[in-house]
Amino acid sequence: MDRPPVKLGVMISGSGTNLQAIIDAILRGDLKAEIRLVISNRADAQGLERARRHGIQTQVIEHRKFPTREDFDRAVLATLNQRSVELVICAGFMRLFSAVMLDAFPGRIMNIHPGLSPAFPGIHAQRDALELGVKIAGCTVFFVTAGVDVGPIILQAAVPVLPGDDESRLAARILQQEHRILPHAIRLFQQGRLEIEGRRVIVKGEPGGTHPPPLINPPID
Ligand code: GAR
Repeated sequence: MDRPPVKLGVMISGSGTNLQAIIDAILRGDLKAEIRLVISNRADAQGLERARRHGIQTQVIEHRKFPTREDFDRAVLATLNQRSVELVICAGFMRLFSAVMLDAFPGRIMNIHPGLSPAFPGIHAQRDALELGVKIAGCTVFFVTAGVDVGPIILQAAVPVLPGDDESRLAARILQQEHRILPHAIRLFQQGRLEIEGRRVIVKGEPGGTHPPPLINPPID
């Protein structure tokens, strides 16, 4: 079935490379989506410039100007509704939503997290992974629910932790994969292939017989 482009509202706080990955996927024709607007909670977020460069509407809604989380969320919600947004994408958005947003967009808020959930929730996932000495790190796209990085998982990508890694090298390796899985998760949503069953997301129409190879790290020689 030929479904219409999904109308996105993208939330950012920083450099916006994940936003750029979404824009690029749309421009390549890999993703049927329209970014209706980009909202940043910080006026100096670099991602705002990326959006403007592509003629995408932007709005700065600074959380500090609101007395409560709920008040901030109400302002965000009103702006998203004005632009008829169907799916909210948190692309490096460093705030937690309250019930105001969660109830307005049930199963329609996605987040990208630089850790293999449920391990390492929070804002230092890469550092925590390094400190705990894991051999495999990665990233997760999930549907946002109440709690920190705990919602139903849509897809994940794994990368090896390599000798000599520091936080920034590991973060960069993970970020490359974020740029692949976030647009893909949005594509699955647009195609109507994501179904939430309790804590699990069922991805309908997965290609049969083609499973990724196991990642063993350090490799067996
Ligand atoms: C990304 O690594 C994203 O996973 C992370 O912030 C970075 C934003 O990069 N998000 C979180 O930690 C959310 N809790 P970007 O602004 O270049 O897309």
